[in-house]
Amino acid sequence: MLNEKIAKLVNEQVNKELYSGYLYLDFANYYADEGLDGFAHWYEVQAQEERDHAMMMRRYLIDNGIRVTFGAIAQPDKKFADLAAPLKAGYEHEQYVTSLINHIYAEAFAIKDFKTMQFLDWFIKEQGEEEKNAEDMIKKFELFGHDAKGLYALNQELAARVYTPSATGPAM
Ligand code: FEO
Repeated sequence: MLNEKIAKLVNEQVNKELYSGYLYLDFANYYADEGLDGFAHWYEVQAQEERDHAMMMRRYLIDNGIRVTFGAIAQPDKKFADLAAPLKAGYEHEQYVTSLINHIYAEAFAIKDFKTMQFLDWFIKEQGEEEKNAEDMIKKFELFGHDAKGLYALNQELAARVYTPSATGPAM
């Protein structure tokens, strides 16, 4: 059985991961509307990964005897001034998610909940990758996104992203 506070934090994080997926689908909606199907696809794949994160946390709770509860998922409310705006919002969002994961980790550390710390190790590493991916997107856009040919090529590159289920996630 998990500590009550830790269980609550992980359960809240399930909602936040589902929200992340919702947010990235909203980015995909924006790019689809702008005719950039590669950008849209990249965020659709990202949304699938976020759902995986939520499911991994849900499973961790269930496997530790916790009754998972679902709250409402907030409506994405970002307005985008230009094509780079979602990329920047994505990077900020990942930094925020990292802070959330770090907070749960710190709470688990404080009560010597080594099992949850080990569970979260995968997410700590994943957040490093997610922040880097988001930062790379901004860099690439700054380099290539401001002329039509570069934007076309970047859109093609992003269209090639392949979804890989996060099946090798944390041991439960
Ligand atoms: Fe689930 Fe993008 O972190």
